[in-house]
Amino acid sequence: MLTEKLETLLNKQLNLELFSAYTYLAMGSYMDERSLDGFAHWMKLQAEEELQHAQKIYTYLSDLGAKVRFEALDRPKQEFDSILDVFQTALEHEKKLARELNEISSVASEERDNTTAGFLDWFLNEQVEEVAQTNTICDKLKLIGEDGQGILLLNNELRDRQREAMAEE
Ligand code: FEO
Repeated sequence: MLTEKLETLLNKQLNLELFSAYTYLAMGSYMDERSLDGFAHWMKLQAEEELQHAQKIYTYLSDLGAKVRFEALDRPKQEFDSILDVFQTALEHEKKLARELNEISSVASEERDNTTAGFLDWFLNEQVEEVAQTNTICDKLKLIGEDGQGILLLNNELRDRQREAMAEE
């Protein structure tokens, strides 16, 4: 049912989502090394969400009888200049994910694969949310600057992040 091109692109996206989980865990470890438990919590929940995204694509491919292909993951970045640098890196990563998903959605539309285009709509909406959330944290960090008290307040705020219910599989 899936064309070879879409199967390849979806597998590439699945691996990119797994790499995203790896990336956020690495960012979480950067925060844990600095005892910033709220920031670390936010990153670890983000990693969980990325695994869920990968799982969602896995299930879709599998349901259609397509091959799920795992690739070797690159080593994630673990050295950063600052907390802001971590979140700016995360923001750029989320924008990249959005671009890739948009590209696959365009291919699905070109191929008149309405099922896959519909499947990808959830991801495109999720990306809007993830870019917005990350951008907001970047803006707050820019306002806070080097103020330690501000960093601790934001750390407390991020500690409250709740696990999101996964949309239907
Ligand atoms: Fe899988 Fe952060 O998007």
